[in-house]
Amino acid sequence: MLRVKIYGAGSIGNHLAHAARRLGWSVAVCDVSAAALARMKKEIYPQRYGQWDEAIALHEAGPNEPRGDFHLILIGTPPDHHVPLALRALEERPRGILIEKPLCTPALEGAEELHRRAANSSTRVFVGYDHVVGKAVRKIEDLYREGLIGDVDTLDVEFREHWSGIFRAHPWLSGPEDTYLGYWRRGGGASGEHSHAINLWQHLAHVVGKGRVADVDAMLQYCRQGQAEYDSVCLLNLRSEGGLVGRVVQDVVTLPPVKRACLQGTRGRLELLLNASPEGDAIHCRIPGRDDQVHAIPKTRPDDFIEELRHIETCLEGPDDASLIRPSPIGVERGLDTMLVVAAAHASEAGGRRVSIDYSKGCTLAAIGRKP
Ligand SMILES: NC(=O)c1ccc[n+]([C@@H]2O[C@H](COP(=O)([O-])OP(=O)(O)OC[C@H]3O[C@@H](n4cnc5c(N)ncnc54)[C@H](O)[C@@H]3O)[C@@H](O)[C@H]2O)c1
Repeated sequence: MLRVKIYGAGSIGNHLAHAARRLGWSVAVCDVSAAALARMKKEIYPQRYGQWDEAIALHEAGPNEPRGDFHLILIGTPPDHHVPLALRALEERPRGILIEKPLCTPALEGAEELHRRAANSSTRVFVGYDHVVGKAVRKIEDLYREGLIGDVDTLDVEFREHWSGIFRAHPWLSGPEDTYLGYWRRGGGASGEHSHAINLWQHLAHVVGKGRVADVDAMLQYCRQGQAEYDSVCLLNLRSEGGLVGRVVQDVVTLPPVKRACLQGTRGRLELLLNASPEGDAIHCRIPGRDDQVHAIPKTRPDDFIEELRHIETCLEGPDDASLIRPSPIGVERGLDTMLVVAAAHASEAGGRRVSIDYSKGCTLAAIGRKP
């Protein structure tokens, strides 16, 4: 049985605690806010999952929180707290750390230090882009590998979702101004909150052998609301190292939401529709001259996190020898690559021009260069 510590008793902290308990693991949750711990026990968890689970231990985060005896540490706090907590978590030498997305702020503070320290430790570090290890994305990978659509010419991913749904899950917040979501510099806004889309583009580009994102041409719409300042729409044109071109759209204004990915190949198209119906996700395979094939992939919201934790457990059971470890699609390197694209998007909008990413400079702003 794995022993898990979770930082953050908010929305994701509840999802992860529930998923870990469904896997039979022991769970301790730490939050800096006593009110958040009480809300988890009295409201969020029982409302979502039927009843509170007395086996979950709740602690105020700080000097008296439990330390040093966990297999896995999960960080589910606002993004600007992720890196400092992850650096401290590494000192506890757990087998694994999962940091929620986005990994850090677009200023990339601490990102390269985290990368270096993670690379030099025996702890495996993951970033919570759960979709890329979910059943639907695994299925689209299988269909692509069957050769149905031929070689991929272009790839589009959209996560367009009005954030009213997020605020419904946080009834104690009055709006974007009350939370990191309303501040792009803290990792909020469409570029941070829906960075699942950038990450999924990157993942699928790797699946089709086209490498990392090399060029980013972005247009962002920034909004001010009281103190809040966030991008409501983030449009990206991307080119990968292997020459794949495509688009990513992330926004917090679209209602009803649309979350989809489209791989257009030389012989046909694969379309992934997340939350295609209340029953789950779907993949449409469209080959000219043939009937469309629809693959339904039943899923509930808790499944997203159960699948993710199962994936991490499998990784942690793998070999200790670094040369034998297979990279995970949610490994920290991928989370860092996603942050470079988020940072490049803001730089592209600010400069009004396309920018390139030089991975040899690490996860730093120096990696983001102007394109001549
Ligand atoms: N993977 C997903 O699908 C998914 C879903 C929801 C949220 N998230 C991510 O999870 C993170 C948190 O989002 P949320 O909606 O749960 O936020 P939230 O505001 O509901 O909860 C965050 C909690 O962290 C606590 N906290 C802040 N600093 C802390 C610290 N230093 N130590 C311990 N606790 C601390 C806060 O008191 C709060 O209770 C964000 O990065 C978000 O993007 C991911």
